[in-house]
Amino acid sequence: MREIDRLTEVVARRLALDLTARGPAAAAEIFGEELRRLGAAAERGAPLERQVLVAGGSGYVGSVLIGALLAHGWKVRCLDNLCYGTGGAVAPFLNNPDFSFLEGDIRSEDALAQALPGVTDVVLLASLVGDPISKKYPQLTRDVNLAGSINVWRAARRAGVGKLVFTSTCSNYGIVPGGALADEETELNPKSVYAETKVAFERHLLEEPDETASPTILRLATAFGLSPRMRFDLTVSEFTREVALGRPLMVYDEDTWRPYCHVDDIAAAIIAVLEAPQAKVRGEVFNVGCEANNFTKRMIVDALLEAEPRAKVEYGTGGGDPRDYRVSFAKIARTLGFAPRRTVPEAIARLAHAIACGLYDDVEARPNYYGNRSIAEAAVAFEGVAA
Ligand SMILES: NC(=O)c1ccc[n+]([C@@H]2O[C@H](COP(=O)([O-])OP(=O)(O)OC[C@H]3O[C@@H](n4cnc5c(N)ncnc54)[C@H](O)[C@@H]3O)[C@@H](O)[C@H]2O)c1
Repeated sequence: MREIDRLTEVVARRLALDLTARGPAAAAEIFGEELRRLGAAAERGAPLERQVLVAGGSGYVGSVLIGALLAHGWKVRCLDNLCYGTGGAVAPFLNNPDFSFLEGDIRSEDALAQALPGVTDVVLLASLVGDPISKKYPQLTRDVNLAGSINVWRAARRAGVGKLVFTSTCSNYGIVPGGALADEETELNPKSVYAETKVAFERHLLEEPDETASPTILRLATAFGLSPRMRFDLTVSEFTREVALGRPLMVYDEDTWRPYCHVDDIAAAIIAVLEAPQAKVRGEVFNVGCEANNFTKRMIVDALLEAEPRAKVEYGTGGGDPRDYRVSFAKIARTLGFAPRRTVPEAIARLAHAIACGLYDDVEARPNYYGNRSIAEAAVAFEGVAA
């Protein structure tokens, strides 16, 4: 198929999706911007078709996002250093000619030089994710999450990339007193090396503006839901698995709040930013989730008990995780019309069913595939840019 025919097909498909999902006015705005982008790209001799680089695409969020992007008609390239050995989560996408994979580290100039040609937009997921892994590898976390991210941002701008979507975390709010809802203006209060590095790179992105590249920061709620790279070190999945296996569940600090968001909805939010008019998202910070999914741990347990009344649950104090925050998601709803569709109880039921069917019988045998526990030696020893 000729390049122009293929491009026409992609643009028409996207317009149809926008018309259905966002209505004629928003679709017309997005379509107009896409035509302007195509005109400017043609003048510069730059690629016409949009191709997104998903850095960290072999992970829990990334392997869901890649499937969703391909379904939306995007070309996708994944760059990942496979530090948990999760290549199997993205290998089947190679059946699709619109997908390519590069094994490489975001701290490496060479890896980025290979990954960026032809790329119009970047989604930066690659990080050491979670408080436990950042506690175990504090310097590596700073190197990857801060120096590596800066490396990606600089290389992306040199390569003339349009949008860069950076996935930060609602963990940045740390503790929000009095049960108030944290919005994007609330003072950040990171309680771990992980959150500190996310806050540091957010500041870097917002303080180093660029004429052409358009950064957007998404502070994601804690994710739940099934993914090709399943993680059982996240609250909803961990609790569900313990109960589904008939083990006693120990829950610490049960009245602390946190927001949750399904991985499918997180992917939808990232795509909404990639497909939004630049003026709505450039230099913006959005919390990603919905207020109905602000839960205490006790509320998650209640949902579990509804599905499995025989579950044995014990509560304790002093779990070592002081985070306690409820979050407002009004901005992303208002600006992008984003509304998560998936609920925690529904995801609990699906995961419990999958576990009961034996789909996750290998979790203990493959601890790093199913959780961020230990980093592969090669990634620890790798010497790229350092913080
Ligand atoms: N999962 C959540 O609950 C959650 C919540 C808030 C924010 N986030 C953010 O979403 C993003 C994705 O999270 P996730 O749950 O998919 O995490 P994940 O650990 O499953 O995925 C991270 C991916 O990054 C890759 N990676 C790590 N270091 C790399 C490096 N130096 N170079 C290249 N690739 C590297 C890993 O191999 C992995 O595939 C992260 O930025 C995270 O901070 C996640």
